[in-house]
Amino acid sequence: MRDGQPNPVTRLADYQPPAFLVPDTRLDVDLRDGETRVTAHLKLERNPARADRPDELVLDGDHLDLRSVVLDGRELAPGDDYRLDGPRLIIPGVPEAFSLTTEVRIEPEKNTALEGLYRSNGMYCTQCEAEGFRRITFFPDRPDVLSRFTTTIHADKGAYPLLLSNGNPVDAGDEADGRHFATWEDPFPKPCYLFALVAGDLACLADTFTTASGRDVALRLYAEHRDLDKLDHAMDSLKRSMAWDEKVFGREYDLDIFQIVAVSHFNMGAMENKGLNIFNTSCVLAHPATTTDAGFERVESVVAHEYFHNWSGNRVTCRDWFQLSLKEGFTVFRDQEFSSDMNSRAVVRVENVDFLVNHQFPEDQGPMAHPVRPAEYQKIDNFYTLTVYEKGAEIVRMQSQLLGAEDFRRATDLYFERFDGQAVTCDDFVACMEQVSGLDLAQFKRWYAQAGTPVLTVEDEYVDGEYRLTFEQHTPPTPGQPDKAPLMVPVKLALLDGEGRALPLDDQGRTETVVILREARETRAFPVPARPTPSLLRGFSAPVSLRYDFDERQLNTLLAHDSDGFCRWDAAQRLYFAALARVVDGGETPADQVARLTPVIEQVIARADEDPAQAALLLTLPTENAVGDRHTPLHPQRVHAAVSGLRAALGEALADAWWRLAEGLRESDYQGDGAAMGRRRLRQVALGYLAAAAGAGQVDPEPLVAHLSATLAAPTCMTEELGALRALVHNRLPGHDAALKAFGERWKDEPLVMDQWFGVQATVPGADTVDRAEALLAHPAFEWTLPNRVRAVIATLVNANPSAFHAPDGSGYRLFARALKKLDGINPQIAARLANGGARLKRLEPGLAQQLGDALRDLRPGASANLAEVLDRILDA
Ligand code: BES
Ligand code: ZN
Repeated sequence: MRDGQPNPVTRLADYQPPAFLVPDTRLDVDLRDGETRVTAHLKLERNPARADRPDELVLDGDHLDLRSVVLDGRELAPGDDYRLDGPRLIIPGVPEAFSLTTEVRIEPEKNTALEGLYRSNGMYCTQCEAEGFRRITFFPDRPDVLSRFTTTIHADKGAYPLLLSNGNPVDAGDEADGRHFATWEDPFPKPCYLFALVAGDLACLADTFTTASGRDVALRLYAEHRDLDKLDHAMDSLKRSMAWDEKVFGREYDLDIFQIVAVSHFNMGAMENKGLNIFNTSCVLAHPATTTDAGFERVESVVAHEYFHNWSGNRVTCRDWFQLSLKEGFTVFRDQEFSSDMNSRAVVRVENVDFLVNHQFPEDQGPMAHPVRPAEYQKIDNFYTLTVYEKGAEIVRMQSQLLGAEDFRRATDLYFERFDGQAVTCDDFVACMEQVSGLDLAQFKRWYAQAGTPVLTVEDEYVDGEYRLTFEQHTPPTPGQPDKAPLMVPVKLALLDGEGRALPLDDQGRTETVVILREARETRAFPVPARPTPSLLRGFSAPVSLRYDFDERQLNTLLAHDSDGFCRWDAAQRLYFAALARVVDGGETPADQVARLTPVIEQVIARADEDPAQAALLLTLPTENAVGDRHTPLHPQRVHAAVSGLRAALGEALADAWWRLAEGLRESDYQGDGAAMGRRRLRQVALGYLAAAAGAGQVDPEPLVAHLSATLAAPTCMTEELGALRALVHNRLPGHDAALKAFGERWKDEPLVMDQWFGVQATVPGADTVDRAEALLAHPAFEWTLPNRVRAVIATLVNANPSAFHAPDGSGYRLFARALKKLDGINPQIAARLANGGARLKRLEPGLAQQLGDALRDLRPGASANLAEVLDRILDA
């Protein structure tokens, strides 16, 4: 707790190498209910890189009960030989090199913060990134101290038959009183944030992978016994990831064993601990009966992401947490590329851009805006953001495009070879790109340092057979960064003629080019026979907000003919945004938009067979948040009326077409391939339009209700089952209550499905959902200590249900504030993450802004450091 004290700030500019290195760490963890003992034997030596040669050893610790300290075999006395300074252990006057043994007691059973060592459903597990290891033992808890770990775990053999840690198993055996032990040795030096330990009674799915050089790696996935049948997809994803990383990045796995453990209580999605990944059950378990297609895709990409960290993060790690994007941005780029190769590249690109534009852009334009490499932080947990991850991935993607595939591969090879076993910086990464390509990326590096979404305004003119494009870039001020310099912006483009064909742009007949902008304002000319339609920012070649005054004819041309998947999708989005703006601000009605949009939609439907998943993306209206972010001040109810009104109007106008799609795409039995997933996705979009029209009383609900009820009675898979439930419940169609009840009964023993059940209810549009959410919080299956459940109700209400969260009477805000207060006492990381849902405060119309501000201000006294940092940024912006 802060006790009114401001949080200490950590600054990149203050970085100093560690005073002491820890070449060797032996841990002995004795797990006993109520009194877990951790003994750490550390070999320490002075770091030659620290010229000032401090002789005081400072170790991080948190929530530790220190029992003894022994230095080179001599027990130290508290006060005289060492002292505790807040959470830190300080030993003055230590020698050049020495051994240190500390013994602490910890209480994993009481650890609801889920950092360090804790219990989840009867098993012990750990989460150490970013600064959780200090809750296990005293240690220099920073990523640039790499140590070789040997870990011995002792526990009751009946309750915890399985004892796991990083690396290879080297010893095991029975002990007195029905206990046993196991010792694991990790040959690769690693920072302590990659340490992991698991003890439990788990089922195992085992397989092997033979690496490119012919080594056999044992693969083991663990989950509760009842979930053993939900591990196949993760195993398959893992094997494909391992093969892909060999082929595409030349990266082979390095240990003889790779393990993943599924745990129910987990703050994040998953964690890349060396050789022993720990996953939120939601990101590893998958079965068609219980997991939607989106869930399957998520598992595939998270398994890949954490596996890829073995090289981008573990073998080459971060010097300090300011460099977080070095591993996260790069690894997100790698997992995106993997997903693109496993699925439809065009669809994956649009999904990734959609996510960036609708989630990272708002972050970058709000009170939490920060550079991909921040200059300072209070709690590093708050900087695992979409900016570090998604914008960071775009920065790596731009470099891969600037270098081209071959040079980029040479540059990443150089990076992995040069820095193997080291803790490095984003500058080190870019230096490899520069060295291989000969490019000067000095200006490019501003992408790492400068916060905010650049706005790229494009104007054009056609004179004397020349088409001139003028680009103007401007990055608005962000908190603490009033002035921005121009960035290096690669703009991939093509020019389409009246028939939508791309015109040749050079002598070789190439129809696509990349303009690399460096100045605030630049003009490029293209000799073409007539005024073209510009296809700009193809593939979303830079993470900028593009302003160009497209007319409707140009957008229709792009949507109909552009070969670039992003530009087609972007054209559709622009048509929808324009229609919605005419309703929100222009005094028109949703019905007024129908005549302009139906030809466009009919055309997409006519071609839907080519790629149903892409058609689904093209037919999806922007979210209420996306629309709201384009209107200032924000009137959430107005936006809600416009979006839901337009959906219903299009549902009515095109009812026959939606029915043909929905019926034609109905499957008789389940198929798990990508094509089948695409068809289900398009079918759900069609049903969504029909349900909106039925809910608004614009079409007869009866046939649709019959159709959805039939699906619910005999679903082929969870995508279909949940889709039908959502359509009924969100549109309050006849029978929705009974359907909810039946679904809740049917799935009461499947926590991940129950999360969906809670989520569907928390996202019913309308202010009265606040009362419903209150009731959900009182439901016997609701657990404040289970982050997935908290997210299912509160995060979805706050982030995905604007018409409820922004209830005119402020009840949504009061529920939000009460939930934050309660959570902050249980799990400050989760509370702080959730608090970001208040970041639109300053954009709200004054009446709502006042109410949300009041609710949040009340939370400041006594808030945890995590929550305080977020509240301060939102309230003081
Ligand atoms: N290293 C992170 C997990 C992590 C994040 C631990 C923050 C502690 C604090 C992991 O590699 C990760 O990035 N996980 C993501 C999923 C991934 C697919 C982007 C997550 O957990 O959301
Ligand atoms: Zn990661």
